Amino acid sequence: MTITLKSAADIDGMRVAGRLASEVLDMLTPHVQPGITTEQLDKLAHDHIVKVQGGIPAPLNYQPPGYTPYPKSICTSINHQVCHGIPNDRPLKNGDIVNIDVTVIKDGWHGDTSRMFVVGEGSIAAKRLCAITYEAMWRGIVKVRPGARLGDIGHAIQTFAENQGFSIVREFCGHGIGSRFHEEPQVLHYGRPGTLEELVPGMIFTIEPMINAGRREIKETSDGWTIVTKDRSLSAQWEHTIVVTDTGYEVLTLSAGSPPVPALAAG
Ligand code: MF3
Ligand code: CO
Ligand code: CO
Repeated sequence: MTITLKSAADIDGMRVAGRLASEVLDMLTPHVQPGITTEQLDKLAHDHIVKVQGGIPAPLNYQPPGYTPYPKSICTSINHQVCHGIPNDRPLKNGDIVNIDVTVIKDGWHGDTSRMFVVGEGSIAAKRLCAITYEAMWRGIVKVRPGARLGDIGHAIQTFAENQGFSIVREFCGHGIGSRFHEEPQVLHYGRPGTLEELVPGMIFTIEPMINAGRREIKETSDGWTIVTKDRSLSAQWEHTIVVTDTGYEVLTLSAGSPPVPALAAG
């Protein structure tokens, strides 16, 4: 396994890219209302990244092996869609939950972050899934420090989510990130403490748990990208890009509009 370690100058570049990705979500937030289409959100994001930020939307034309080029600039995954939903002309409706996943390339560096949005008034169950998934992501983040292992992160996320009666998607995971969108290592959102790669300063990776209200099984849809829950239960995801520092972690994808950091991450 070759994990590229980032220098202080590299991390400066990643900090800028990460903040810009988060600021795209800040910009979109007031627009996420009943009646708007995800295609309209995609256009707002694309134009902001290109014209205001001087960046590149990493998803557009992204083509991992075995995939067709991704056709849009952001991913929008609604309700039972787990991830990689493609923006389209269907309006969001009251009570939908939607994940918006933004990846910005700036000066060659990638910043990758996503948030959940509740459209209008959501059900108690939908809001609870979004809130638990947010806390699950943070329970993983706070494990990050030199000497910890990737399995510590996955275990913290998995035990918390499963104790709430939810399930963890296994087929997709967090990833190293830097001058490339997806690098080593894979960051599983389940696992056993003390296993897998040891964390060292300069590693940068995402933590992006996908958590289902029902069973964990997923399937790919006919568009070749969108992943949905097999049982059509709701799914939620949050994502941050994290660097391992000398003493712990730094979240690179924060901005003025980021939701509050939970108390469990204090200090
Ligand atoms: N942003 C996603 C991630 O967190 C990847 C999306 S790939 C795309 O890794 F092509 F669908 F954009
Ligand atoms: Co990611
Ligand atoms: Co992402």
